[in-house]
Amino acid sequence: MNDKCSKARDEKRYERCIGKEGFARYAPGVCGMTDASEAYKALFCRTFIDTHRDFEPADLPWPNLDAKTIDRLSSIPFWTVALASESNAGYMVSAFAETLGDPLLREAMALQGKEETRHARLLYEMLRRYGIPFEPPKAAQVKASSRAFIDFGYEECIDSFFGFGIFGLARRIQLFVPELTDIFEVVLLEEARHVTFFVNWIAYDRRLRGRAWAPLEAASTALGYARALRRIVTTFAPSARNGQKVRGTGFAAEGTFAVFDGVTWRTFLQACLTENERYLRGFDPRLLTPRVLPVMARMALSLPSRPRFRRSATRSASPRA
Ligand SMILES: [Fe+2]
Ligand SMILES: [Fe+2]
Repeated sequence: MNDKCSKARDEKRYERCIGKEGFARYAPGVCGMTDASEAYKALFCRTFIDTHRDFEPADLPWPNLDAKTIDRLSSIPFWTVALASESNAGYMVSAFAETLGDPLLREAMALQGKEETRHARLLYEMLRRYGIPFEPPKAAQVKASSRAFIDFGYEECIDSFFGFGIFGLARRIQLFVPELTDIFEVVLLEEARHVTFFVNWIAYDRRLRGRAWAPLEAASTALGYARALRRIVTTFAPSARNGQKVRGTGFAAEGTFAVFDGVTWRTFLQACLTENERYLRGFDPRLLTPRVLPVMARMALSLPSRPRFRRSATRSASPRA
């Protein structure tokens, strides 16, 4: 292993090493770990386990809310979906953890399952406490497998990126009282830990399976995001049955436009980027964090804004004097 690391260093192919073995970041969504190493696994698992906070949703300092704030909360369209989604995730991740042979991975994965289940209980506590109408989740139908966890992981990468932006905007305009925002913050911090755990786990798992050839990793990552995006788009497509939108796991973007009046896509994307950076910057810099959406958002924000397009279009369309 020493040889591997020295060779990697000599070739200057890797930016950082964890102890004797190493990995590096060199492309969006691609990890350049030299090996599926114990050190790397220990780093991302222990980071996740050591940052777990023990609390019960019912014990959180829930504030008293006035009728206007409760109405505002009730008007957010995704609570039933969010509850079902967290509940299913808790079941699936916990069941997947049981299938893992590696004790450290199993412990970290089981902890994520526990946290997802607690998110469902936290949401339930909020809805019950403030009398917000919702439909109780049905028994989980999700199959626990590596594929299901990967699909879920990419969906979380998308949902958390937009979710960070939504709650950043909410905090900025003080949509909710700070005590309630602080409670949402607890969930968002856990989601930041989940997506960080996921991207490191999948990089590790690909190495372990000998599927770590960079172009293959990039293609798998692109496919993972595409699958997640397809499910989210399907979620928002009008249902064939009643013309209503079917609300699934990808509820973040719809939530934004339901709650914030007049928010532009630039303001929204900028908020997503700023908040994403804020939630993820506390992690050990040797760990991967999700990078595909931040890269795409920066590219989108670097495009000229529409008014400039319009002005230049008008200018070019005007007859020359
Ligand atoms: Fe969650
Ligand atoms: Fe999560």
